[in-house]
Amino acid sequence: MTAELIDGVAIAGKVRSEVASGVEKLLADTGITPGLATVIVGENIASQTYVRAKRKACAEVGIQSFGHELPAASTQSEVEMLVRQLNADRNVHGILVQLPLPDGLDEEAVLAAISIQKDVDGFHPINIGKLGMKGRDPLFVPCTPDGCMRLLEESGAQFSGANAVVLGRSNIVGLPAAMLLLKRDATLTVCHSRTKDLPTVCREADILIAAVGRSEMVKADWVKRGAHVIDVGINNKWLDHPSDREMVCEISGETFTAHRQDESEKGGRKRVGYLDEKSGSVYLREYLPEGRSIDGLVKLFRRHKLVGDVDFEEVQEVAGYITPVPGGVGPMTIAQLLSNTLRGAQAAGG
Ligand code: GUN
Repeated sequence: MTAELIDGVAIAGKVRSEVASGVEKLLADTGITPGLATVIVGENIASQTYVRAKRKACAEVGIQSFGHELPAASTQSEVEMLVRQLNADRNVHGILVQLPLPDGLDEEAVLAAISIQKDVDGFHPINIGKLGMKGRDPLFVPCTPDGCMRLLEESGAQFSGANAVVLGRSNIVGLPAAMLLLKRDATLTVCHSRTKDLPTVCREADILIAAVGRSEMVKADWVKRGAHVIDVGINNKWLDHPSDREMVCEISGETFTAHRQDESEKGGRKRVGYLDEKSGSVYLREYLPEGRSIDGLVKLFRRHKLVGDVDFEEVQEVAGYITPVPGGVGPMTIAQLLSNTLRGAQAAGG
């Protein structure tokens, strides 16, 4: 059997067009344009990429976005002061502080400073607490797990009484996903690094959500025939290349496996880029005319492909329904953020 693909791009497209209509109606009815404030502290390249995508998606559905970038050396009170300003800003209906924060900042205190009415990430302790409690409803649910639930619903998963296994217990995905499944009356198992015999536990799952950040860890013999498999992982898989070799960086002295990427000439000097297998950094060796060479760390580029936590090729032969990577959960995270921001603005207008 080959599993049916759960098309996150198409389902996210549906959510986005619902949001776009909602934004238009809200503006017509109340004159309110929904606004999302994004906050990045420091220069985490992945965070910058994610937030850029979130802001672009806002623009596409008519949500205003307000970008704030604070230096990595910002103090706790500077970050919290910005959050309080955004809490008070009538044009802002959602606040997203991109995680992780740089070392030294207290994430828990920053998230607790966000007004629960604007907590579109659903990470405020009151929202996350209500998510875990019977009979209580949070104002907002974290975007990635909420997106996973929508993908499961759209692919016809039955929750009540189903065996659901969540691989990973992160605050951002695994834990809230588990609470959402429990709210829908699934019989829940949460697995983590100390869990014994993962394949056997996972094989019991009618619904399996993998959110551990380990490339292609879930294999075909971990999966029950016909199961719904949701892959939250987004991992870089370096592609092997015949010219991969051991290198020593002359600056740091570190040994790394590198792949010779390119050879070029600049100003009459030959330059060769070498890629570090582990970090993805590129070391550039520049050959000087007098026969010496200098090495430096330049920028990140490497032949790689994105893979999930699930070995897609193998698992699709066993699962009933499966999300691809990319094109599964990723687009849903942004779509749910837009939807939450619209709801924040509707509540403010109503
Ligand atoms: N970092 C990784 N995922 C997320 C997310 O969904 N929200 C925030 N704020 N930070 C993240």
